[in-house]
Amino acid sequence: MQELLTITRAARLAGVSRSELQRHIHDGELETFEGKITVSNLLRLYPVIDMDSNPMLEKVKKIKLDAVKNKGKIDTALPSSTVLMSRLKEFSELLITLKFQLNQHDNLFKAIIQQVEVLQQSDNLETEINNFYQWLLEQNEQLQNNNSADNKAKLFVKDTFLRFVAAQVKFVPSGHEFFVEGSDSLLESAIRVGLKPNYGCSSGNCGSCKARLVSGDVKKTCEHDYVLSEYEKQMGYILMCSNTAITDLVIEAKEAKHPTDLPIQELRAIVKKKELLTDSLMILHLQTSQTKTLRFMAGQNIRLELESETVDYPIISCPCDGRYLQIQVKKTATDLSKKMFDDLQIGQTVLFTGPYGDFVLSSYNNPIVFIAQDEAFAPIKSLIEHAISTDTPETLYLYWLGEQYFDKLCRSWEDALDNFVYTPLTKLTELEQQLSQFLPTASDSTEFYLSGNDELEAILLNHGIHKSKIHISNF
Ligand code: FES
Repeated sequence: MQELLTITRAARLAGVSRSELQRHIHDGELETFEGKITVSNLLRLYPVIDMDSNPMLEKVKKIKLDAVKNKGKIDTALPSSTVLMSRLKEFSELLITLKFQLNQHDNLFKAIIQQVEVLQQSDNLETEINNFYQWLLEQNEQLQNNNSADNKAKLFVKDTFLRFVAAQVKFVPSGHEFFVEGSDSLLESAIRVGLKPNYGCSSGNCGSCKARLVSGDVKKTCEHDYVLSEYEKQMGYILMCSNTAITDLVIEAKEAKHPTDLPIQELRAIVKKKELLTDSLMILHLQTSQTKTLRFMAGQNIRLELESETVDYPIISCPCDGRYLQIQVKKTATDLSKKMFDDLQIGQTVLFTGPYGDFVLSSYNNPIVFIAQDEAFAPIKSLIEHAISTDTPETLYLYWLGEQYFDKLCRSWEDALDNFVYTPLTKLTELEQQLSQFLPTASDSTEFYLSGNDELEAILLNHGIHKSKIHISNF
């Protein structure tokens, strides 16, 4: 039976992004069976398995970095992470040879059975046994002289190697999958790829990230104050913020499907930095306490309270880190705006509630078009950063009309990613022109996220885009 790989694992083995494989599937170049890919189909598309391809080296680099960060926590009796990785690589080479030989012997064994079946039918047994003996000698010589390894063996070994540095986790009942790298917690790894499991403090205090381990082994990464009952332990419950994966895991976890599934949270944060973008725009960097992080979806707002006045601000950072938040603040004629720009001090504590709003990504697998106008780019920035961190959408297009105060950042995304297309524009007529060229070629599954005035939606509707594909920010 053919071995089937999930898209996540196949992308890792081929050393490409999931979005690249999604593109091949979408273009009909890669066949899937119940959402999975066969090893031979993967090898057909990527015949050369590079044992040194980027993902592995990146993991090695990350492990080295983590080792430096966690200095002091490491058992000094162990060799350094660099030495361990080098030894693993050595063993990989040996394993490739052994796996190749095993495959060869397996094939030879099948061929011998066929030969013996022929022998059984033969009338001239003595001659046939002689022929069979000669044939066996030839096969043996070929085996001795054949030292090259086939791609199947390399793929097998690369998979084994990657399992050392990253374990695959599957959430049930959703079926969502992700990798846990190094000693990252299950929670941070899940959030990084865009999943929305339950959590509260991210530090083992509240118990909100409790989930049931169905199979596999985990290891505690830190002691936690929250106490699991004996019954919960027996049932396999763990805290996802305080455990990492040792082996591939299946975990029964509750996940938010819609913004309304997220509770409105009340938090305090410290003002870490005020960063002026333009004369009238500022990014406020906030940091919540270690025991409370904001659980939100990209594209949502928080409601800040200052001297009993409240105002909603868009979060422009990624939900991958709910403790360090960035919000965009616009200067207006109100007193609160003046206080935010002039009086708010670094180190001051502010109160806020949230998250609010439902301008969130509805799907991560389809091509996505973002259209922003002036400072209404704020929620789009959060959506793009999250979409990039999930590495799932086929292609991301950004059309930004007006003043592009994050122009450098957008250009760096375009330079770094082969699935990101950035088009800065100055006039609405330019946008119409661009869209009239692009839309006829867009796939039916494309989703549109608009943040600006009503004219943006009108342009899309005029081009026949169905309303259900258009998501509008209330910025
Ligand atoms: S215990 Fe609070 S998020 Fe894990």
